Amino acid sequence: MTQKLMMLLTVGVVVFLSACQQPLVKKVATKHEASKYFNDPVITHKVDSVLSMMTLDEKIGQLTLYSSGWDKTGPSMNENYINDIKAGRCGNIFNAFSPDYNRKLQKIAMEQTRMKIPLLFGYDVIHGQKTIFPIPLGEAASWDLKSIQKTASAAAAEAAAAGIQWTYAPMCDIARDPRWGRVSEGAGEDPYLGSKIAAARVHGFQGTDLASDTTVVACVKHFAAYGAPEAGRDYNTVDMSERKLRDVYLPPYKAAVDAGAGTVMTSFNDLNGVPATASHFLMTDILRKEWGFNGFVVTDYTAINELVPHGIAKDDKDAAALAMNAGVDMDMQGGTYSKYLKELLKEGRVTQEEIDNAVRRVLRIKFRLGLFADPYKYFSNKREKKLTYSKYHMALARQMARESMVLLKNDKETLPLKKGQRIALIGPLADSQRDLLGSWHAAGDWKINKTVKEAMVEQFGKSNIRYAKGCDLRGDNRSGFASAVAVARRSDVVVMVLGESAEWSGEAASRAHINLPHIQSELLEAIHKTGKPVVVVLMSGRPLALDKEVPMTDAMLEAWFPGTEGAPALADVLSGKYNPSGKLPMTFPRITGQIPIYYSAKNTGRPYTKTGKEQKYRSRYLFTPNTPEFAFGHGLSYTTFSYSAPKLSTVRLQMGDTLHVSATITNTGNYDGTEVAQLYIRDMVGSVTRPVKELKGFRRIFLKKGESKTVTFDLTMNDLSFYRKDMTWGTEPGDFKVFVGGASDNVKEAAFTLVK
Ligand code: BGC
Repeated sequence: MTQKLMMLLTVGVVVFLSACQQPLVKKVATKHEASKYFNDPVITHKVDSVLSMMTLDEKIGQLTLYSSGWDKTGPSMNENYINDIKAGRCGNIFNAFSPDYNRKLQKIAMEQTRMKIPLLFGYDVIHGQKTIFPIPLGEAASWDLKSIQKTASAAAAEAAAAGIQWTYAPMCDIARDPRWGRVSEGAGEDPYLGSKIAAARVHGFQGTDLASDTTVVACVKHFAAYGAPEAGRDYNTVDMSERKLRDVYLPPYKAAVDAGAGTVMTSFNDLNGVPATASHFLMTDILRKEWGFNGFVVTDYTAINELVPHGIAKDDKDAAALAMNAGVDMDMQGGTYSKYLKELLKEGRVTQEEIDNAVRRVLRIKFRLGLFADPYKYFSNKREKKLTYSKYHMALARQMARESMVLLKNDKETLPLKKGQRIALIGPLADSQRDLLGSWHAAGDWKINKTVKEAMVEQFGKSNIRYAKGCDLRGDNRSGFASAVAVARRSDVVVMVLGESAEWSGEAASRAHINLPHIQSELLEAIHKTGKPVVVVLMSGRPLALDKEVPMTDAMLEAWFPGTEGAPALADVLSGKYNPSGKLPMTFPRITGQIPIYYSAKNTGRPYTKTGKEQKYRSRYLFTPNTPEFAFGHGLSYTTFSYSAPKLSTVRLQMGDTLHVSATITNTGNYDGTEVAQLYIRDMVGSVTRPVKELKGFRRIFLKKGESKTVTFDLTMNDLSFYRKDMTWGTEPGDFKVFVGGASDNVKEAAFTLVK
């Protein structure tokens, strides 16, 4: 080493160390704070001092993320990526989630690399780390932002103790096609609800102090419009107008970014001809320039390499150039930056500035996480032990699961089950342990959770439960039907647990038909014929098409995949210990052929209404109604609620003012209960066509039997705004309708005019 280089290095190390000793600015909560924080001169100074000492290879290493060799057989310390860490070629690891193992890897980075830049550890902590909460679609059905934030922060605390600082969540993809298996990971079909939930989850994961050892940095995914693949087939083409993209699909990602999310993941799909991972429009124009996002962008798994089969890059090298030029900072698993960025720089196809900026963004997050100050603080067996399955987390899991369940139907007050009733418990999911956790259950161990059968025995007493499986989830084996029918005959009421296996939703799990497999439907028919009251509990990762089954049931409860405490929570709901309050975050069609079906549709020039003379030339199907089986926002309670007509603070709203909309809700039934009051609007005449209803507010309210409460919603100009004909965002004067009610198809209305 030359003397000059030695001197430079010494100066560099001194600058670096002194920079690291300065106190970190820790708080990042609101959007204003977030942007202020990113421009924080202390962090910028630290980042620049580190950057100034790095070689090109080391810089590229920070832009590289590899999966650890961790699998079911345990971690391996002989993998290639270990050598990459040692050589500074890999600065980030995912899929490693043990305090000891992660510490070992961190030690390599801290002790054996020249720059001693701490590794960043990522993992898919989607709905819990070990204590597993309901799948995100289930959590969304609670419409309970506080609880959703709490489960995200509990998940973060468990993950952070296990050595993770970065979760690949929340998934903010709006989805209106339940064939797509990943609807289970999102918040459903609606941009307003989706945005609120996205922000709640970011706040939950990140807390107010990213450097705390109980928080992790969030990753908003999959940017963008991954939830709109043609025909609901995962990874398929996405093609839509920019208006639809901005009106419907972008808001939840934006809400997550505004909530301070530190990272964003590109999506696998192409959007209007350009794969997201090569999209300058998405990653730079929208994300950074329009939204002011200052964190880093990571690809989805090998998404750069996939630009080749997409047919917009000739080879991986070409693909790496496209991604870097688009504004993608980190390559997940594909190794393309590692292999080609140096050459591409030499050839002038990427710039030093692009690389440096990408590294800056990554380092900034590492500083914010406090990794430079203490690279080891996230690896704590003690904390992991204390938090995992803790009393608080288990209670939270049970409460969230109760809140997530949606009572779809309840004729003749079949539910709650009555004391002393003899209950037949039937169905392929009634004694399944594994399925309760759903897909993406991180480090969750299904062996510790109770099955529905076990929880029912505990809740109702062994002598009251008679179990028969009846059939498998799929197939043609009817040999269990007879004993199931016999068990039903010997009981007062039948509870059937039907639906999907956990593996039928999540990634790469699209279904062309979203009905119950025929064997389950046939079993239901056989039980229905006994004449006993039938309660169907559904476990599924998506809305199902149940037009055949609904008439064969007396009650139906959607339980999703409810997580570690899901089975006891279900027993709580069936027994009436908890009065269900969930509302659907996604429409349930009658049949698959109605898809895409969503409440916020356009009216068309030939709307179909059932009233009046039957008309042929209307927007309708010949043999199927337009309406869904269960609408967005639908969900019953054991009690009933009545709504007054909405009262408005004015019927002539001045541009710039806020409208106050109030309605009185009364609990008219026989139980105390929680209702989710929903507020929708319709802009009657616009410069472009507007949806027949748009959710603009909701409130969970607890009402004692006979009690009334008045809820007031504020409708602001922002709520009345949309992308107008010229693609500017704003309001247009004219007539509006306002609706308040307990479901998108069960509302009372009022009208007002927006005047200049
Ligand atoms: C998924 C992402 C996930 C990533 C890392 C990909 O296949 O699409 O959602 O975060 O894998 O596990």
